[in-house]
Amino acid sequence: MSKATAIAHPNLAFLKYWGKRDSTLNIPINNSISMNLDAVQTVTTVEFNAAFANDEVVVLEQGGGGRARFDQRVSKHLDRLRSRAGSSLRARVITRNSFPAGTGFASSASGFAALTMAGSAALGLDLSERELSILSRMGSGSASRSIPDGIVEWLAGDSSDTSYARQLVPPDYWQLIDVAVLVSAEEKKVSSSEGHELAMNSPFWPVRLEALPGKYVRMSQAIHDRDFITFGRELESEAMMMHTIMMTSAHMDGDAWRSGIYYWTGDTLALVQAVQEWRAAGLQVYFTLDAGPTVHLICLETDREAVVSAVNMLAEQSGRAHWSLTVNRPGLGARLTDAHLEAR
Ligand code: PMV
Repeated sequence: MSKATAIAHPNLAFLKYWGKRDSTLNIPINNSISMNLDAVQTVTTVEFNAAFANDEVVVLEQGGGGRARFDQRVSKHLDRLRSRAGSSLRARVITRNSFPAGTGFASSASGFAALTMAGSAALGLDLSERELSILSRMGSGSASRSIPDGIVEWLAGDSSDTSYARQLVPPDYWQLIDVAVLVSAEEKKVSSSEGHELAMNSPFWPVRLEALPGKYVRMSQAIHDRDFITFGRELESEAMMMHTIMMTSAHMDGDAWRSGIYYWTGDTLALVQAVQEWRAAGLQVYFTLDAGPTVHLICLETDREAVVSAVNMLAEQSGRAHWSLTVNRPGLGARLTDAHLEAR
């Protein structure tokens, strides 16, 4: 088979990956935990053909910039797959996201997971889940976690072969809901690759390093036990710890000194504050955020409607008609499909 198509979902980090031990191989400082988001996805078709003179990347239905850099990253990733298969064929990659890039859904995670799965199948490689996760990780760290199904842990490891993701629990183990509130469709200004490098500039970095092993043990246990309150408190504290690191990662941007990286907007803060009040009023809901302003409200299936109504009411009362909501459940990992994309 020289053509294959794969579907992969972005994942939402519960325990965050922020800071690398090895930037070339994307080996992280710490173990991280995430859930695949079933309502959003990337579909990617890869075709290798002796008639192609160069790699070509066609992105369907996606706005925004950064294309040249994206194409380079894809081509570099195809090189990894080609060297694995001993092939020199060039490829056409056609890809489509069901969500805007750079807005809090990790498009690089679903993108590199789908590219790895489709590209390796198109080259006739028969890779294990672990090998697919390792290869995806080299394209974008968090992509390693979009390979297995459900709620997933990425073991940091200490070498390329030992740094991969595996399933923690299957998608139907726990009826967790993510109500993602997209507050802005603008692309983020600081990429996560830049952010990872700046994390150690924060004076609170040593505090994080010390806290990480305990966080991992408590969060994995809470997931296994389906203990929502313990899980929720860990989740929200973790999001705040990562954003504290981000907001205190002082750095130079050309000639300009910046005191930190700010992914939040005023709308993000409004939701963070509202969550505190909703909980005080008895609603079991917690938030997390990745590297963007999108707020992910986590609750159990039984509270889904109440959370969606609370967000809609807040949007209406505060004149924020532009918010858009996506409801996600734990999703599958990357998989192949026969429905190939066609370039238009
Ligand atoms: O995989 P990257 O380099 O895009 O980094 C992802 C970073 C966060 O989304 C903020 C955290 C995470 O664990 O996914």
